[in-house]
Amino acid sequence: MSTQGGDPNRTKYLLDEAEIPAQWYNIQADLHQPLPPVLHPGTGQPIGPADLAPLFPMELIKQEVSQERWIDVPDGIRDVLRLWRPTPLFRARRLERVLDTPARIYYKYEGQSPAGSHKPNTAVAQAYYNKMEGVRRLATETGAGQWGSALSMACTFFGLECKVYMVKISYEQKPYRRVMMETWGAHVVPSPSPDTQAGRNVLAEDPDSPGSLGIAISEAVEDAATREDTKYALGSVLNHVLMHQTVIGLEAKKQLTLANDEADVVIGCAGGGSNFAGLSFPFTADKLNNTKPSLRIIAVEPSACPSLTKGKYVYDFGDTVGLTPLVKMHTLGHGFVPAPLHAGGLRYHGMAPLVCALYDAGVIEAVAVPQLATFQAALQFARSEGIIPAPESAHAVRAAMDEALRCKAEGTARTILFNLSGHGHFDLSAYENYLAGKLQDYEYPVEQVEAALAEIPQVSVS
Ligand SMILES: Cc1ncc(COP(=O)(O)O)c(C=O)c1O
Repeated sequence: MSTQGGDPNRTKYLLDEAEIPAQWYNIQADLHQPLPPVLHPGTGQPIGPADLAPLFPMELIKQEVSQERWIDVPDGIRDVLRLWRPTPLFRARRLERVLDTPARIYYKYEGQSPAGSHKPNTAVAQAYYNKMEGVRRLATETGAGQWGSALSMACTFFGLECKVYMVKISYEQKPYRRVMMETWGAHVVPSPSPDTQAGRNVLAEDPDSPGSLGIAISEAVEDAATREDTKYALGSVLNHVLMHQTVIGLEAKKQLTLANDEADVVIGCAGGGSNFAGLSFPFTADKLNNTKPSLRIIAVEPSACPSLTKGKYVYDFGDTVGLTPLVKMHTLGHGFVPAPLHAGGLRYHGMAPLVCALYDAGVIEAVAVPQLATFQAALQFARSEGIIPAPESAHAVRAAMDEALRCKAEGTARTILFNLSGHGHFDLSAYENYLAGKLQDYEYPVEQVEAALAEIPQVSVS
């Protein structure tokens, strides 16, 4: 049971800059079973550091497989994080009153970063290590633009060139995200582009292709693999990316102590898994080592793209085209194209292997929520707490509100902590559509998923 306490009116729990975590938490050290190996897409054999060297700097490859519990955050990274970290922990007193719940609701607000989400926490680290190893230029993909803007900003801080392949339909529909990236000095092209063989192949077949994240990943990977001066950066899924995000949960733990409280339920939305892991892994440690066995940790996904709750736990490609290594994860099939949800960052067929392993082991839970109920929660949140959530983050808001309403029905006062991973200032067209009654729910596409699952490569690991 949580201990209640603190100033009855206090709304923000703030830390001093000196309390930006000096080390990241690496959950691999505490897993009861090591992660299944990552396999080479051609040979089906476990890959080694040399296979990843064309794409990533060695320090990040080492972090990817490290079994050390704590890894130092270099001063050069903390100096940049200082611009917006530590982020505030809010007690959602006004939302609690509206819901008339005995639950205590807290949210960690990552929308305070200059790019508007948690993504810069890893973008800065990735740009830093690339710079240290003499890389001159980074290539990446972006869907809705959150990750692309984070990396553009990070590259400008470290004097790196940045090339962003932006899914063409977003490039056309979200010009302001593109302008943000260009303001930070990045070169942004609509994908498919004529700049890569992958892009040219798609354009030859369909000059009007709207693009997809899978195509954009193929373009960015090809760009990095074919240029000496360029490496690739990914905004989620990989172990080191999730680890860079643990600054969120490490700060939140200290802030809850300031509130004289302790989490009973920890919630985050999950696309590739990085903000969910960033908040929850430092708490998951207490569950894994049995100091807080009753803690509930919940990943929230859209019901139209439910990789954890409906996917298979098998080896699959990380991209749509099938160029990346094979990883064991909950997947809907790499060929599955999710419905055009407004939470673009949650439209991913797979999930971070670390999150999947914990889900498979029953350490964490997952729920899927539909789009309309998610926007309804986002509006209720905006009208009580003020902040307009990113559509992705609104999934966590929905689940937190559902937990708080359960507390009300049961008459129990649990402490709920969730991650508000970003603001929705560039997603107002989604809100406009919701307010005009034009948004719809998408059914779980059983046949489409079955067809995509049938295409998953058959892999046997000895
Ligand atoms: C605000 C926000 N939240 C969540 C996500 C989902 O990504 P992840 O699961 O890696 O946190 C995204 C991805 O673009 C995002 O922009």
